[in-house]
This record gives sequence, structure tokens and C-alpha cells, in this order.
Amino acid sequence: MSETYLDKIYTVTDQDGQRDAYDDWADSYDDDLDANSYKTPGRIAEALKQCLPSDQANPRILDWACGTGLSGAALSEAGFTRMDGCDISEGMLVHAREKKLYNKLFTTPLGVPDPSMFSDYDVVTAVGAVSVGAAPPECLPAILDGLPSGGRLAVSFNALTLKDKAYMDTLDQVVARPDITLEFSEEGPHLEAEHVSKSRVMVLAKA
Ligand SMILES: C[S@@+](CC[C@H](N)C(=O)[O-])C[C@H]1O[C@@H](n2cnc3c(N)ncnc32)[C@H](O)[C@@H]1O
Repeated sequence: MSETYLDKIYTVTDQDGQRDAYDDWADSYDDDLDANSYKTPGRIAEALKQCLPSDQANPRILDWACGTGLSGAALSEAGFTRMDGCDISEGMLVHAREKKLYNKLFTTPLGVPDPSMFSDYDVVTAVGAVSVGAAPPECLPAILDGLPSGGRLAVSFNALTLKDKAYMDTLDQVVARPDITLEFSEEGPHLEAEHVSKSRVMVLAKA
């Protein structure tokens, strides 16, 4: 049986290779994830709704590493309307543009983002984004550093990422910060593919 993108992607460790792999995958990504019942975007959107105070029910969101916009589609379905998106893969962004869910979509450099790019947002979502096969763990503190006071990061770790020491050590470090509160953390279904059937959805709030 031929190897699928879902098998291959978690073995690509460098960001150049990942951008190329997501560019190649972009045209069939939505169909592949639909066929695997991709649950994490809906779980992230619901977790956010639970955590946001009623006077911040429609925050300015940056869907960071938005890919083709499946994460934005779940946020939109949950009632969020003020969304921008960005990604390293222009191929993925082509499909995100077609969905017409985001106010602004832009490409972002490989690797760890400049924290200043998050300063205008109340919420950053990183759905399947800070992950084995995607962005490196150092992105977590970079996003939290850039968020304004009162901001939130909604992030998922899939089963492979939950077993990866570098990602888990970085998660432990950010959760231990005095300015960060882990408001929500729940494990549940991710994809049907066996190696990534579960994910943990988390919401981190910055004081
Ligand atoms: C598994 S996809 C998730 C996409 C989307 N959030 C979703 O839920 O379908 C991971 C995405 O992360 C992007 N990515 C990887 N490294 C990145 C980085 N350093 N900065 C921004 N995006 C990155 C990839 O191009 C890809 O679109």
C-alpha cells in the first residue's frame, strides 16, 4: 500500500521540508482530513467559547498556521467572525483564501515567529500547528510572549507530540510561568489514523 501524506508528514523534521510537503499536500489535505474525521478544530473552538468571558465573546483571532482553513471553518461555525490567518505554506493558503473566512491571510517565515506579530490579537489559535511534523516547540513561548495581557492561546498537541520530550518540556515551562494560567486541558479524538487518534486541546491565558 502506498504511504499517505498522513503517514509521511510526521517524519519530516526540517521546516523547509515541511513547507514543501504541505505545499504538495494542499490540494488533497481537506479530503484526507475529512476522510479521517478531523475533530480537533471543533474541540478547540468549543474550548475557547467556554474560556472566553462574555464581554470578549468575539475576540480578534489569529489562526496561526491555519493551513487550508479547516481550523478557521470550525471557529466560524462556532460563531467567531474576526479572524486573520497565516502559514508558511502558500499552497495551503490558496485553499484558505477560497473559503473566504478570514479578513486577512499572509505567509509567515519558517521557524519561530517574531512575537510582535501577535500583539494585535486577543486570541491565537494553533490547531495541529505546534507539533511533530509542523512548527517547533519554541513557537509556544514566542506566541505567549507576543500576546497582550489578557490574551489567550488555544493550542492542540496530538498523540505523537504528547510523547515528544522537547514539546512536553516546553509546554511544562510555559505552564509554570507566573503570567500563564492553563484554563482548559482535555484529551479527546483527533483523527481516525491510529498513530494520531488522540489530541490534547489546551487554552492558556496570559495575565
Ligand atoms: C497539520 S497542519 C494544520 C493546519 C490547520 N491549522 C488545520 O487545523 O487544518 C500544520 C500547518 O502548520 C504549518 N506550519 C508549519 N510550521 C509552521 C511555522 N513555523 N509557522 C507557521 N505555520 C507553520 C504548515 O504549513 C501546515 O499548514
